[in-house]
Amino acid sequence: MNEVLLRGAPSARGEGARRTGAFAAAGRAAPLSALCAADTKAELSALPARLLALREGAKQGRDPTAADETLAVLLHIGKTLPARRVLEIGTGEGYTAAALALACPRAEIVTVEADAVRCAAARRLFAALGVAGRVTSLFADAAAALGAQQGAFDLIFLDGPKAQYVHWLPRLKALLSVGGVLAADDVLLYGWADGSAPVPYKRRSIAARLGEYLAAVQGDAELETLLLRCGEGLAITRKLCAAPA
Ligand SMILES: C[S@@+](CC[C@H](N)C(=O)[O-])C[C@H]1O[C@@H](n2cnc3c(N)ncnc32)[C@H](O)[C@@H]1O
Repeated sequence: MNEVLLRGAPSARGEGARRTGAFAAAGRAAPLSALCAADTKAELSALPARLLALREGAKQGRDPTAADETLAVLLHIGKTLPARRVLEIGTGEGYTAAALALACPRAEIVTVEADAVRCAAARRLFAALGVAGRVTSLFADAAAALGAQQGAFDLIFLDGPKAQYVHWLPRLKALLSVGGVLAADDVLLYGWADGSAPVPYKRRSIAARLGEYLAAVQGDAELETLLLRCGEGLAITRKLCAAPA
């Protein structure tokens, strides 16, 4: 199981929601740590060899695909909830979206990418793996795409521009179903965001914005957050209750 670095305490209101059955499916009532208890080897070995080989190549890129442990947590959460609607911000070349589509065969995936070349590569991958019918691949800036989305998502993977995480949080929270999970990648960035490593001068702004994101999710009584040591830090945030009317 992945090491838990920080835990944002669930609120009394959230516990009440769980007790009264506001979380419809059993997966949503599981403790957040159980939802994150993925077996990386088992999760990845269920994926096609071709996708695993492509992921290995992508790990060396400038905007690498999610770490193995991160992908395993996402797949485990997607299957356990189970997620029927998934949103990914930052498609890259489509490896994580494709893996989620394969692992969650009843899920519809919406994934957003601002780079035309990567978006085209992702669409080719979705077609080649036979999941294009369940994956809506948007070539768009995430800010615009977030504004245009309707309805609730059970799982959101936030893997786009790190400095925007905190600005997009209110919209992402509104798009989450109750009991749904927002997974934000790279939230520690080499230890810069939580002060455990000195921040290079040019990275001070992004480190500060990520620190604000972590403070925001951990300080929100309607959210419950675990920070996992996966890749460069994975913040797993569950929405405990609907916003007051
Ligand atoms: C780390 S990569 C995504 C990797 C992918 N999620 C995966 O696990 O395979 C981040 C991606 O976010 C995209 N991106 C950056 N800014 C964006 C924005 N404003 N809107 C949409 N995508 C953006 C980049 O082009 C890049 O492909």
